[in-house]
Amino acid sequence: MGAGIIGIGSYVPDRVLTNADLEKMVDTSDEWIVTRTGIRERRICPEGKAASDLGTVAAIRAVEDAGIKVQEIDMIICATITPDMVFPSTACIIQNNIGIENIPCFDLSAACSGFIYGLEIARSLIETHRYRNILVVAAECMSRVTDYTDRTTCVLLGDGAAAAVVSKVEDNYGILDTYLGAAGKYSNLLYVPAGGSKIPASHETVDKRMHFMKMEGSTLFRIAVNAMSDSVKKIIERNKISPEDIVLFIPHQANIRIIQGVAKSACIAMDRVFLNIEKYGNMSAASVGVALDEAAKSGKIKKNDLICMVSFGAGLTWAANLIKWSKND
Ligand code: UT7
Repeated sequence: MGAGIIGIGSYVPDRVLTNADLEKMVDTSDEWIVTRTGIRERRICPEGKAASDLGTVAAIRAVEDAGIKVQEIDMIICATITPDMVFPSTACIIQNNIGIENIPCFDLSAACSGFIYGLEIARSLIETHRYRNILVVAAECMSRVTDYTDRTTCVLLGDGAAAAVVSKVEDNYGILDTYLGAAGKYSNLLYVPAGGSKIPASHETVDKRMHFMKMEGSTLFRIAVNAMSDSVKKIIERNKISPEDIVLFIPHQANIRIIQGVAKSACIAMDRVFLNIEKYGNMSAASVGVALDEAAKSGKIKKNDLICMVSFGAGLTWAANLIKWSKND
């Protein structure tokens, strides 16, 4: 028996923040942002709404797409680094929003790799017959931890959510393989300094802008290309396939130049790489999920196609998987 995605959905908020808007906020230019990152605009969650609100819409869409009743979901995993609150988990809030009672729900913190990590946990629990239909949600409001006075980070990030229902599928279909990795020694390259148990919130942390993301961009860039291309190569080697067998490659959308570097290193032609970075920027865990949903809904993926997803983010963490698409869309 295999485990795979039987329903997929996504949601991005309506408000658009363009490069022209950012030109008015910090010392940057549309030309710099487009050539250095590939991003033209990103979405911003409205005030008063949170990651759970984005995740709830994506979750309902995924359950509808799966053609099952919401009560048939027996676990919710929410991948997020921008939870509504420190606790309770955003997964529990989504559970209540969609009206399911008494199922296990928890959040998963693996930054941009969270969706692929979540799919792998779900796959393992389905394959061992412990659960039947697991809802994996990736919901991020990166705008809430973005310093809009820091031009080196504020042009990169956006808000959005994706969700997938992982269930039993036909043999030799679904998630065929996953490779997960992490390197805590690099945790200081991408982080939010305050607001946790190490440096709790205070007037000082607010004054020093310590609740916003800090990033060593160029160091991360190099590690990202290596970690993502190594992950893809591992998936290709250990499944005894060639890069040409992959019909669609769905990479994390952090920077177009990172994606091009990974594709080149793993010998994947750019016309088989799904891109939506231009519209959304980096939505952390939600990026690959939104991309997968858009690819499926636009007919870019058909039953029997091999898809490779790959991601990289804070932790540092990285992840890649190989999916044989089992849905007839
Ligand atoms: O989600 C996964 C984790 N995140 C990533 O993987 C992000 C990885 N890093 C990147 O995508 C890139 O490193 C960035 C897009 C963040 C930066 O691009 P870069 O080509 O590495 O630029 P840089 O940091 O080397 O900066 C080059 C110059 C600097 O000016 P000087 O020092 O050469 O005068 C920056 O101050 O570009 C300047 N710069 C900007 N200029 C205009 C940095 N940000 C901006 C900006 N507008 N927004």
